[in-house]
Amino acid sequence: MTVYPLNHSELSTEIERLEWNHFNVLVPLLDNCVVPPEVDAYLQDLITERTLALKDGQPPVSVADIGTGTGVWLVDLASSLPPTARLDGYDFNTSKFRPVDSRPPNVQLLEANAIEPFPAMLHGQYDLVHVRLLVLALQPPDWKALAANLKTLLRPGGYLVWEDVDTQHFKGSPETTKTAATMAQLIRFNKFRGQQGVPYPIDLDKLMAAEGYDDARQKAFKVSDVWEHPTLAKPTQNSLFTIIVSYMQGIVEFGGFEDLKTKEDAARKAAEAKAEIDAGDVKCDSYFWRTIARKPLA
Ligand SMILES: C[S@@+](CC[C@H](N)C(=O)[O-])C[C@H]1O[C@@H](n2cnc3c(N)ncnc32)[C@H](O)[C@@H]1O
Repeated sequence: MTVYPLNHSELSTEIERLEWNHFNVLVPLLDNCVVPPEVDAYLQDLITERTLALKDGQPPVSVADIGTGTGVWLVDLASSLPPTARLDGYDFNTSKFRPVDSRPPNVQLLEANAIEPFPAMLHGQYDLVHVRLLVLALQPPDWKALAANLKTLLRPGGYLVWEDVDTQHFKGSPETTKTAATMAQLIRFNKFRGQQGVPYPIDLDKLMAAEGYDDARQKAFKVSDVWEHPTLAKPTQNSLFTIIVSYMQGIVEFGGFEDLKTKEDAARKAAEAKAEIDAGDVKCDSYFWRTIARKPLA
């Protein structure tokens, strides 16, 4: 069984969570952009350069989204690219894919396990490879394997953009609240499942450099920085709450952990957290790391 714990809540709830998060939390929190400006400029330059030289039907630019979920990130990106752009989303769980009629025709969603090597026909195909929120699915050795697999997908000079949260800063404040205790319990479960032992996504830039990527760098976007923000404070707290709920359901499905054994335990802890968050008695924190790197030109 996969270690990924967030595919166990009600399917419609998880779909709604991913779609809502994209528009209300992830894009606004990460500098209000779907792709960082330098990557957008790179894609737009490629489109200009290639459009004249390309034969009919050839895509002017190609993007892959790994662990795509519903495909919402690709669907959003599609609006800033020509309809001939190749936009491929990969996930090992196809149940959350947006149906064909709710995505542009050039957004293809396909099954793939990103920990396994990608087929040779996909090697060197993409100008941008994007990954977001895979932290809970990865065991320590998977990060290096994934970094290497993603590099095979890229064209020389192509960008990797990997956005993920670390488990170290996933906490509630003050520590005496029930919410903080539940968040700490989720992190202990992570450790118990063997998912700690590597700092990533903190220092993911160093792993990228070691894997032969160029120009690797990263930036943290902190939920605590927007605790008082007029429009982001509430959505970010709601978002962390939905992660707590979904994660607890995953733990129950795995057979339970400590005093979190049944659906009723998860519902009780969720209600306690909701009451504290709504009353403003606790503030939840998390750091989103955006790591950018490039495949060397030669
Ligand atoms: C938290 S969701 C994020 C979805 C999407 N990236 C987003 O930001 O909206 C993580 C997704 O990664 C997928 N996933 C986890 N491990 C994977 C793997 N080894 N290969 C492909 N997809 C994976 C899960 O099925 C899930 O859809």
